[in-house]
Amino acid sequence: MSAKRKILATNALPYANGALHLGHMVGTIQGDIWVRTQKMLGHDCLYICGSDGHGTPIMIQAEKMHLAPADMIAQIHQTQVNDFTDFLVEFDNYHTTHSAENQQCVETIYKRQVEAGNIIKRTITQLYDPVKKMFLPDRYIKGECPVCHAKDQYGDNCEVCGTTYLPTELINPYSTLSGEKPIEKESEHFFFKLQNFESFLKEWTRQGHLQQEVTNKLDEWFKAGLKEWDISRDAPYFGFQIPGEKDKYFYVWLDAPIGYMASFLNLCNKRKDLNFAEYWEQEDKVDLYHFIGKDIIYFHALFWPAVLQGAHYRTPTKIYVNGFLTVDGQKMSKSRGTFIKARTYLNNLQPEYLRYYLAAKLSDRIEDLDINFDDFTQRINSDLVGKFINIASRCASFINKNFAGELSAQIIDPALFAEFSTAGDALADHYTNIEYSQAIRQIMTLADHGLHVFCTTENRINRTGLYAFGATNTFSFTDNSNCR
Ligand code: 2FM
Ligand code: ZN
Repeated sequence: MSAKRKILATNALPYANGALHLGHMVGTIQGDIWVRTQKMLGHDCLYICGSDGHGTPIMIQAEKMHLAPADMIAQIHQTQVNDFTDFLVEFDNYHTTHSAENQQCVETIYKRQVEAGNIIKRTITQLYDPVKKMFLPDRYIKGECPVCHAKDQYGDNCEVCGTTYLPTELINPYSTLSGEKPIEKESEHFFFKLQNFESFLKEWTRQGHLQQEVTNKLDEWFKAGLKEWDISRDAPYFGFQIPGEKDKYFYVWLDAPIGYMASFLNLCNKRKDLNFAEYWEQEDKVDLYHFIGKDIIYFHALFWPAVLQGAHYRTPTKIYVNGFLTVDGQKMSKSRGTFIKARTYLNNLQPEYLRYYLAAKLSDRIEDLDINFDDFTQRINSDLVGKFINIASRCASFINKNFAGELSAQIIDPALFAEFSTAGDALADHYTNIEYSQAIRQIMTLADHGLHVFCTTENRINRTGLYAFGATNTFSFTDNSNCR
């Protein structure tokens, strides 16, 4: 085993405005398998996560539910904990971005950016809902596409012709919150100067912290040029107020990844053996791994390392990106009945089945992962029930029935024993490199061999009787259906 390492692994923080679905489980289970492997290898590995509790969609959803946002996110936070626990995900801590720890970390980071000259203020014009008295994010504005004239298109791009545009370019725009025509209004915003980090990021993104596909994607963004990032939002907003400002809030995507630090800080407050500075200030002492989905690469592989670097914190060791989950080859859809909530799955099937199925398909490539329920059933029945569990269950009854529950003092098949006992290193490497499908393939090959030897042994007993094995009674097998 390599030297014992301290590792902090994180899973993307799910928004606390709705139920978790199976898509959330892909990265979470991928991370959980990885962390369990590291723990089994003897490393000091912690897995942290939490709910992402800020932003306009949270505020709007709470309004719909006639709840205060803080109450709504507290309720949803608890359902997330229950869902993850029932999927056997072993987080060392599950906190929330709407917390004192996060506010403390966000303010420290913001202050350091201001001191370093990484924040500028600029007045911008945005669409404003005069009825709701709020600026409208693009997704809350609809109108006619300026290119193909399709009706009811979102404020940033047309789903019919694919054109991207500014919300101000929409024809006959309306607010999806009030139905009112938005007006243009000016406001002062705070920007993080991402361009200050261009040379750092160009180097960092090519140092092996990312999968090759991600590095290639980032190259495209570098070519397009890095832009200032708007980190502020106007009231009304559910988030942290910007210190010293009135009615200005930090944009949710600034405080969300800082939530990783906050969740860890919360754990430090509960466990006195952990040292926050050791984990977040000293790159050589601790490894930091993030598991995320491909839709949030930009935030994690550009903004996040730059924000950390600008605030004199350590940057991530590795970011592992996974693809989307599809059901029967298509995006999950409520209308097609393929949108599966985590709880719906749990009410019907065992968590281990999904964990196994995902593991059997996950690799280090950023490919979408499909659940096809015929394939799912076939795989669980043939691999888990027919092979893996079958070996244990048949050996157990065989040993109990014929050998009074005692194992032999000798190894009857040293080659098979060696094959199993030497497989561990390669399997650990596959798991560590998030090549789970290769690990599962190897495990199932071993299971095939094990089952074959078991069946050969059964047959031999059937032919010679147990006398050859030192027993005094004899028996015969009737069920050889799983032997090949
Ligand atoms: O995309 C999302 O669901 C975000 N809530 C993920 C946040 S990850 C991290 F930055 F907090
Ligand atoms: Zn269009």
